[in-house]
Amino acid sequence: MVETIQWTEAGVVMIDQTRLPLEEEYVTCRTYEEVADAIRGMVIRGAPAIGVAAAMGVALGVLQASGQQLDREMETICGALAGTRPTAVNLFWAIERMKRLYASVRGQPIAEIRRRLVEEALAVRQEDIAINRAIGRNGAALVPDHKTVLTHCNAGALATAGYGTALGVVRAAIESGKQVDVFADETRPFLQGARLTVWELQHDGIPVTLITDNMAGHFLKSGRIGCVVVGADRIAANGDVANKIGTYTVAVLAKENRVPFFVAAPISTLDLTLASGGQIPIEQRAASEVTHVFGRQVAPPDTAVENPAFDVTPSRYVGAIITERGVARAPYEESLRKLAS
Ligand code: MRU
Repeated sequence: MVETIQWTEAGVVMIDQTRLPLEEEYVTCRTYEEVADAIRGMVIRGAPAIGVAAAMGVALGVLQASGQQLDREMETICGALAGTRPTAVNLFWAIERMKRLYASVRGQPIAEIRRRLVEEALAVRQEDIAINRAIGRNGAALVPDHKTVLTHCNAGALATAGYGTALGVVRAAIESGKQVDVFADETRPFLQGARLTVWELQHDGIPVTLITDNMAGHFLKSGRIGCVVVGADRIAANGDVANKIGTYTVAVLAKENRVPFFVAAPISTLDLTLASGGQIPIEQRAASEVTHVFGRQVAPPDTAVENPAFDVTPSRYVGAIITERGVARAPYEESLRKLAS
C-alpha cells in the first residue's frame, strides 16, 4: 500500500503529492510550521490525510516546545495548523481531538504529555486505515458488478492514511470478487484525478481510464457507468456534501442519467453543527492554478479568475453516504444523526 504519511524519528514523512506521478519523492517535515506549509501547499491533501497531518503536527510542535508556557505554545501550534485550509472538517476534528487529549494530561510531567500526544497522533493514523476498510466493506455491495465506477478528484490511499474512502469502496468491491474498472475525471485545476487517482490505481493494478472533466456527461449517458463514488471534505446535517470543485456537476449529470451517486466518508467528515451546505466555508485558491498549467501561462495576463477549490452538492443528488458505521440514506437529517450518535 502507498504510504501517504508516517511518523519517524526524523519528523513527519509525506509522499509529495505536488510531484506525483512523475517523481516519487518524500518530504520530511521537522517542525509543526513545516507540517502547516505542507498542508497549505498540498504536499499532503485529502480531508482524512490532512487530519492525520494536523494531529502529527500538534505532536511534533509539543515535542519541540520549550514547555515554559505549554498552554500558550499549544494554542499557537493548533492555531497555525487550523489556519491552513478551511473546508475539510477533518483538519479541525483532528486538532480538537489533540486538544482534548492535552486537556486530559495537562499538569503531568512534560515527557508524559509528549508521549501521550505522539501516541494519540499515531492512533489517528491507524484508526483512519481501519475506518477506510470499514467504509469499503459497507460500500462494496452498492457497486454494480461488471460496470465502471466514475470518480472525481482523489479520495484514495493518497487522500487518507491508507486504502481510501471512495477508492476504498472500489478496492473492497474488487476484493469481494466484483469486476470493476474506474473512470477518473482529471479534476481541473489541480489534476488530482489525472496525477493521483490514476497513479495509485495503476500502482495497485486496478484498471483505470482517464477522462477530462467535460467528458463525464458523455460517459454517464452511455450506460457504461454503474455508479459514481466520490469522497467528501465536509457533510452538513442535511446531507449536503462539500467536495472537490466539479463534484456538483457530476452529481447533476448522474441524476439526469439515473446513475447512482454515492459519497464515501468517515464520520469525522460530518459537521452536524451546520444545518446545510450553504454554511460550509469554501477555500479560494490562487488564480495561478487556473491561468497556468504546470507553470506555463495559458490565459492572457491580468485575466480575472475565480478558483473555489470545492463545491457543495445538495443532498437531493446523493443516493447514499457510506460511512464506517453504515450507509446513510435520505432523509439525512435523521440517518446521519443516528450514525453519528
Ligand atoms: O483539495 P484536495 O485535494 O485536498 O481535495 C480533496 C477532495 O476533495 C477529496 O475528494 C476529499 O478530501 C475526500 S478525500 C478521502
